[in-house]
Amino acid sequence: MSTQGFESASTSSTSSAAADHLAIANNPGRFGVGVDPETRALTLDGVSLQAIADAVGTPAYLYSASHIAGQLEALKAACAGRPTLICYAVKANSAQPILRLLGNRGAGADIVSGGELERALAAGIPGERIVYSGVGKRSSELDAALAAGVRGIHVESAGELEQLAGRARALGTVAPVALRLNPDIDPDTHPYLATGLRETKFGIPMQGALELALRAARTDGLKLVGLTCHIGSQIMNAKPFLDSLARLRPVIDALAAQGVTLEYLDLGGGLGIPYAPGDEVVDVASFGRQIVDATADLELELVLEPGRFLVGNGGVLLTRVLGHKRNAERAFVIVDAAMNDLVRPALYSAHHTIVPAVLPGEVPLVRADIVGPVCECGDFLARDRPIPWPASGDLLAVLGSGAYAMTMASTYNTRPIAPEVMVSKGRFAITRPRRSVAALIAEESYPDWLV
Ligand code: LLP
Repeated sequence: MSTQGFESASTSSTSSAAADHLAIANNPGRFGVGVDPETRALTLDGVSLQAIADAVGTPAYLYSASHIAGQLEALKAACAGRPTLICYAVKANSAQPILRLLGNRGAGADIVSGGELERALAAGIPGERIVYSGVGKRSSELDAALAAGVRGIHVESAGELEQLAGRARALGTVAPVALRLNPDIDPDTHPYLATGLRETKFGIPMQGALELALRAARTDGLKLVGLTCHIGSQIMNAKPFLDSLARLRPVIDALAAQGVTLEYLDLGGGLGIPYAPGDEVVDVASFGRQIVDATADLELELVLEPGRFLVGNGGVLLTRVLGHKRNAERAFVIVDAAMNDLVRPALYSAHHTIVPAVLPGEVPLVRADIVGPVCECGDFLARDRPIPWPASGDLLAVLGSGAYAMTMASTYNTRPIAPEVMVSKGRFAITRPRRSVAALIAEESYPDWLV
């Protein structure tokens, strides 16, 4: 199993950590950041992190428009040989400016809730570029998707197919439906991120898939428009996608033989990114070429649902050192960001590179846990990490925080959600202010019968 991006990785994520700040100084681009050659200050899209911290405070999420747009353009170019719709997986980062930036460049959206539908529409992404995934959907959410004219609703069970047909008939419309199949492919990633294995809750088992697809094609109120799958995340090459395609192809062929032609084939998301300086980087041109070649004979549109690949390394979580302590043999650096701001290390033992916002030169490294103020042992951003020992007040950059950081944030310990800042070519703007504790309290009420 490849565990790139996770602490259990035996080589990549840990061995390179020994001098992360020096590695970043040599190759900042892959993490979406830059380094001022004179001051060694980290920059994002031409603005120093220090300047943003001074204006916005910490913790704060910063996003590089250039990196995100560049990732989309690279993937588009890689797939240019065939009709392809790139539906950005909104769950990775649903910030309005990011949705708008991607939508303006032709991307669609892969959504998993009525809330994400509203966000995508609000950002100007038209219904015909939206696909609706997810293992469970409320009838009200299906109704909203039908009203928005989405491209396809991805159904994951016979029961859901009935539910959708019922809603479409009730509304006097025809629902565009795609079946999400479970190809039972091991995507060679962390177990929590492998969604295309038979034993997970996701998708329709291959056995019986054709029968259900034929039923969908023949049910009043439904139009079968596609087949889809999503086998997992942090996948570094085309192989697992090609394996999924090989499993889905007989179903496409059998449907065609029965006169059912599809509009699209959706191979899901999951393209990975480097989280540590020594990590592999996806060769996106080669990925695209292989997918284009393997689907060349299929007369349908290809849909891809990348999330992390587009935004992951376009984001930095800025945090300040509050202090230090030493317990038993362990050294702790206490920072003002915590598991409520970035839960990935606690939840998946995910590895995020953390470096000072001004990169030191060759300095001794100290092994430390970088922890937040939340009252949980699981509240850490990094464990046993060799770092240049920071002083109180120093600014640190948690890299790779563009995907599944803010969208998984909570207000645990009554810590208001940190602000979001969009940076583009030397300019920056706060695109969502820091929430206030007063606003959190104001949402609540005290019934007068409660004593
Ligand atoms: N499409 C579907 C149906 C999905 O379920 C997902 C992610 C994606 C696309 C986008 O996957 P991506 O390209 O971003 O890998 N919270 C975890 C990741 C969970 C991903 C769930 N599904 C993390 O922080 O790593």
